Amino acid sequence: MIHEPSDALVLFGATGDLAHRKIFPALQALVASGRLEVPVIGMAHSDWGLEQLRERVRSSLKAHGSGLDAAAERLLALLSYVDGDYREAATHTRLRAALGKAQHPLHYLAVPPSLFPTVVDGIGDSGSAAGARVVVEKPFGRDLASARSLNQALHRTFAESAVFRIDHYLGKEAVQNLLYFRFANAFLEPLWNRDHVASIQITMAESIDVQGRGRFYEEVGALRDVVQNHMLQVLAHLAMEPPVGAGAEALRDEKVKVFRGIRPLTSDDLLRGQYAGYRSEDGVAAASQVETWCALRLHLDSWRWAGVPIFIRAGKRMATTATEVMVRLKGPPQQVFGEAPAANYLRFRLGPERVAIAIGANTKRSGAAMNGEPVELYVCNSRGPEMSAYERLIGDALEGDPTLFAREDGVEAAWQIVDPVLHLALPVHAYDPGSWGPREADAMTAEFGGWHNPAGA
Ligand code: BG6
Repeated sequence: MIHEPSDALVLFGATGDLAHRKIFPALQALVASGRLEVPVIGMAHSDWGLEQLRERVRSSLKAHGSGLDAAAERLLALLSYVDGDYREAATHTRLRAALGKAQHPLHYLAVPPSLFPTVVDGIGDSGSAAGARVVVEKPFGRDLASARSLNQALHRTFAESAVFRIDHYLGKEAVQNLLYFRFANAFLEPLWNRDHVASIQITMAESIDVQGRGRFYEEVGALRDVVQNHMLQVLAHLAMEPPVGAGAEALRDEKVKVFRGIRPLTSDDLLRGQYAGYRSEDGVAAASQVETWCALRLHLDSWRWAGVPIFIRAGKRMATTATEVMVRLKGPPQQVFGEAPAANYLRFRLGPERVAIAIGANTKRSGAAMNGEPVELYVCNSRGPEMSAYERLIGDALEGDPTLFAREDGVEAAWQIVDPVLHLALPVHAYDPGSWGPREADAMTAEFGGWHNPAGA
């Protein structure tokens, strides 16, 4: 276990899309807040020079960061660049030289997973792994077997305590707030179990299409892209037991227990959909069977949650863009006022805007009759600018704090849940762009109050 903060940041894939959209803006914010003052070495195989990379960083900061401000200048001054084929030892030797006296570099692998083993072996063979950490991007494998072999490849060079697997949902303010709200308040705990919770739903709706990433999506599909990772992490925050003691491992231990308690999916638990028009996207097969939407029912076999229906739904080209958790509570045991009031619920809005926690309740409508109306009590509303998920996560990795990163056993346990259905040829139902997904999904939640469709931003 390395305790010292990293003294250099190496970014593999520096000329790529993720670096442009997310990583450089996050580095700029880290520089602005004083959390990044160490050399940043861009790596890529693009036949570029430092000036070209600087130009690319400027364009990234203009489009996605805070513009060409003082922090941008400082980031550009920290930047150097090494170009070369990751398969060649000479590339890694040049990186070793560029690292100079750095003892604890953070190697950030913003490259396709197929390149992880090559890059990691190169880092190891050139002597740049000692005292170092490594950050790996999702997707972490494409099934249980490939995730295991990626883990083995990483561990040839890095100890697990030096591996930081990114799931950017874990860096989101609203996802952290789920944990905080649960464990910093006492009033929720007596309700938070099978006796009082009628059902749990998580919806991650995106109105965007695959945005030119058709080829990538064909390899992945919605289940692998956002459910195996982001949605299961959100569920773990909702369902886990309070961590025993402080520290990263106590928290990560509890999350692994949730994943282990979830029954592996069967074909009855999963519905797949594809938006009309997907097959005409660039890079998509004319008869593609890949899902751009999916809905699943999960069974969590634990003392707390046994028998509580849990639903996850995620997709592209849906009616709106919103990620929301809806926890419906059971009704009162007796109808004192004749009519059955609407079910109480807790609603956690995780994004993209109007981050909120709300409690659904009933109050009396004014007038002579004892009639009610549903109201929402807002218990939290986002205020002020938020730290981006990438800023938080890269800052934590530089400091060596693994709390918000996926651990080996957690990633494998999450794959174990979805693995049995990945290779089944299950039907894919068509849905209209701008809808909530295929009609076939209605039956899934019908006896539990239907789907909760989050409001638009
Ligand atoms: C990524 C997926 O991990 O998460 C994308 O690959 C998806 O397909 C994105 O659009 C959503 O992230 P966010 O932060 O916009 O909810």
